[in-house]
Amino acid sequence: MKKQTAAITAVGGYVPDFVLSNKVLETMVETNDEWITSRTGIKERRILKKENEGTSYMAIKAAEDLINKSGVDPKEIDFVLVATATPDVMVAATAAYVASEIGAVNAFSYDLQAACSSFLFGMSTAASYIESGRYKKVLLIGADKMSSIIDYTDRTTCIIFGDGAGAALFEPNNEGLGLQDEYLRTDGIGRKFLKIDAGGSILPASEETVKNKQHYVYQDGKSVFKFAVSNMADVSALIMERNNLSKEDVQWLVPHQANKRIIDATANRMGVDKEKVMINIHKYGNTTSATLPLLLFDYEKQLKKGDNLIFAAFGGGFTWGSIYLKWAYNS
Ligand code: UT7
Repeated sequence: MKKQTAAITAVGGYVPDFVLSNKVLETMVETNDEWITSRTGIKERRILKKENEGTSYMAIKAAEDLINKSGVDPKEIDFVLVATATPDVMVAATAAYVASEIGAVNAFSYDLQAACSSFLFGMSTAASYIESGRYKKVLLIGADKMSSIIDYTDRTTCIIFGDGAGAALFEPNNEGLGLQDEYLRTDGIGRKFLKIDAGGSILPASEETVKNKQHYVYQDGKSVFKFAVSNMADVSALIMERNNLSKEDVQWLVPHQANKRIIDATANRMGVDKEKVMINIHKYGNTTSATLPLLLFDYEKQLKKGDNLIFAAFGGGFTWGSIYLKWAYNS
């Protein structure tokens, strides 16, 4: 019997209106447009400036965009999974609030945190629920308000990250389209290179931790870069090999948007031409859990039914991996 596959049947997205350009960053920290562009590929990023609004604000907007475009009835959604490293609050699941606000009143929901690989790992979770036959409609949202955990006096991190959200609906497919294969990895060695020291169970918030700026993202960029370059390229090449995909067979590489140089290295290793590489890092920066769905949102009109997509991500933890998915619709 043919295995039930899980396909993406709709996408949505949202980025805040406020643009933080490299030129403006030049007035905030000692940096320059040329350095940022040549080292990262980033020209500008979006920042959520609304007071008292967190990640859920953007997650809801992205989900509503998907619902409006696809016409899916939110009451039919079984499960809402929010991939995020910046939940609204420390304990109540952001996904529960998002599900209620979008009218997914019959769904259960929770958050998934795997840093920049959150959406990729979420794709595996969403697809598994569909493949097993347990649920019929799973809404996966990747959303992060990175500006809430960035120190805008630290030039090594503030130039990289941005805010945004993207959403994808997973449904059963009887033509063999959708998720085909995955290779997901983690290595706890990564925790010392990319982290937020305080506010968790090891080092709860205190006057001291605030004074020492320990609630902001710390990254040893050079070390993370080395791990990311080799691991993202390795898993993407591996998944092609394992599925007998030549570079001609791959229509699109959908890579996490952390650094244009990491994306180029991954594409080179796969032998994939640059026209097949989805890119939006220049306008959004690194939106962590939102990079992959925002690529689908931006490129949806160019995707054709049957296209072979290779997703790849690398993030804190370390977490990384690759997913091979056959696109299921023409828009
Ligand atoms: O998404 C999650 C996973 N994260 C990643 O994949 C990020 C991986 N890392 C990177 O993308 C890069 O390492 C960065 C973009 C973060 C940094 O680029 P780099 O080429 O590795 O630069 P570097 O850290 O080696 O710094 C080179 C120089 C240093 O000066 P010295 O020591 O050579 O005098 C830095 O102090 O550039 C300096 N520098 C800056 N200069 C201008 C660091 N940040 C800046 C800046 N503007 N914003």
